[in-house]
Amino acid sequence: MNVLVVGGAGYIGSHCVKQLQAAGHRALVLDNLVFGHRSAISDDVTFYNEDLGNRSAVAKILLEEKIDLVMHFAAFAYVGESVTDPLKYYENNVGNTIQLLLAMTDAGVKKFVFSSTCATYGEPDELPIVEDTPQSPINPYGTTKLHVEHILKDLAHTGEISSAVFRYFNASGAAEDGSIGEDHAPETHLIPLAIAAATGQRGALKIFGTDYPTPDGTCLRDYIHVDDLARAHISVFDQLAEPNKFVDYNLGTGKPTSVREILDAVEKVSGLPVPAEEAARREGDPPSLYADNTKARTELGWEPQYMDIESNIATAWKWHQSHPDGYGDTQD
Ligand code: UFG
Repeated sequence: MNVLVVGGAGYIGSHCVKQLQAAGHRALVLDNLVFGHRSAISDDVTFYNEDLGNRSAVAKILLEEKIDLVMHFAAFAYVGESVTDPLKYYENNVGNTIQLLLAMTDAGVKKFVFSSTCATYGEPDELPIVEDTPQSPINPYGTTKLHVEHILKDLAHTGEISSAVFRYFNASGAAEDGSIGEDHAPETHLIPLAIAAATGQRGALKIFGTDYPTPDGTCLRDYIHVDDLARAHISVFDQLAEPNKFVDYNLGTGKPTSVREILDAVEKVSGLPVPAEEAARREGDPPSLYADNTKARTELGWEPQYMDIESNIATAWKWHQSHPDGYGDTQD
């Protein structure tokens, strides 16, 4: 398959490009490098430095490169910023995605794989989260992703585009060979921040909230390895062979892990203490989010390989050791 990976220079997109190549597909990347890293993409991959909202330019690429399927990873994803600047999020995550979908209809490309999030479920009443758990986001970031899901459902109904929607839980880890990994600017995610606290690159890790209704009082999350996420994307192609398809899958390990358990695991893997201090809850953090991944396992034959949090963090640690400043192209 010829696959255009939009946002392919970002964290999850770049791991997907690597997996697509390993599976024998032709992966091409479109990224405006606002958050992506050029060096996350190997030189043998065709790269377009282009904005996904540029309908005519994207349609031209889709036609010229005979693209069969588009994967869309490019979005703004800072929950806090989405609350203070919602229009920025609606413009990019919804508006530009509509332009991308219009470009696909212009070029007659009919298959789409979309990165959604467990944030579309808000604070669910039931755990673990299944695909038909009610979706009720509690921040604009989650709402923008849900809007796109609704658009995709409507497009499947018309037969114009078939879609697979993946709702990621906490993407984490790095490529097994240490070549690519996580580098956000600013970094807000727990595992890279804990590693940076352990190595002394940052001050003590702030534990946001220790009075949650969870076993140790800290939030529970479902840390799914980025290569496990990438593998699910490749196993969904058959599902999109027919028109009018809309399929959705939760991608998580199904195992809840607390903030304190993450800090313990980082200490074990690195052999270094993680300086940490208790802090107030962070606004908008649900106490517990973890997936029921039965649907992805049964329908896609997908099995997450990194079920043990230490094996996941070991890959993040390996990446950090060879790239202590990430890709070295941004200041955080
Ligand atoms: N945390 C800390 N200290 C930190 C950073 C995080 O205690 O310095 C805690 C958070 O409070 C949370 C857990 O660690 O309980 C994980 O936090 P992350 O920021 O790593 O991840 P989130 O669960 O907040 O966010 C992820 C994705 C978002 C998505 C969200 C859905 O990164 O894109 O899940 O809830 F929207």
